[in-house]
Amino acid sequence: KMRINHFPTTVAAANAVADRIAERLKATPNVVLGLATGATMEPVYERLVALHRAGEISFAGVTSFNLDEYVGLPPEDPRSYRATMDSQLFDLVDIDKSRTFVPDGLAADPAAFASRYEAMIREAGGIDLQLLGIGRNGHIGFNEPGADFAARTRVVDLEESTLEANSAFFDGALPPTQAMTMGIGTILESREIIVLATGATKRDAVRTALLGAVTPDCPATVLRRHANVSWWLDAESGADV
Ligand code: GLP
Repeated sequence: KMRINHFPTTVAAANAVADRIAERLKATPNVVLGLATGATMEPVYERLVALHRAGEISFAGVTSFNLDEYVGLPPEDPRSYRATMDSQLFDLVDIDKSRTFVPDGLAADPAAFASRYEAMIREAGGIDLQLLGIGRNGHIGFNEPGADFAARTRVVDLEESTLEANSAFFDGALPPTQAMTMGIGTILESREIIVLATGATKRDAVRTALLGAVTPDCPATVLRRHANVSWWLDAESGADV
């Protein structure tokens, strides 16, 4: 059920994921995409933009929902995931930005926002294709170790190791300590999930996710309970699987 695709380099893995998404866009122009941020996804969006500029794909019919957002960062902050998505993808293609959704890190009532976000996903017909990265500790979205497999979109505390890993995006300073993230329950409702993991820092998480016991201690292990997940790995991340 879980398909593992190995690639020699990071770029080859990212390009293959972008090509897979592009094929899906061509087949289903009104596809509902679940999107992820992070260094891993940058080359994917770069290639999707290039394919769009080459006239091969259009995002005009796409609706998208991002996994997560930092609590306390306004959308104008370049380090917010909203701004990241805008600058890496949305502002560079023909997507209708009013149909691109990212959790609101400034929501006055986060619980109310979170349930509206879930409702919007349902009203869009659910997520057809979810693009997923993985944290060094096995987190998916921002569902850190210990997260309930049934959890829905909510505000969570981030682990020290996650703050350190993501400080690269904050000039070495620590990012906000909380985020709003789709829950594991939300993620598992996607019809198809593509996991892209690249580089040596992901090797242990990939091994545990694919070979370890299914446990909230490594949230990505839950993906083994989903019927349609594929893993896209480079030589370093995939060395043990
Ligand atoms: C981040 C994000 C995740 C991402 C993961 C890996 O903190 N919240 O959505 O998939 O951790 O990030 P990166 O690709 O930068 O290694």
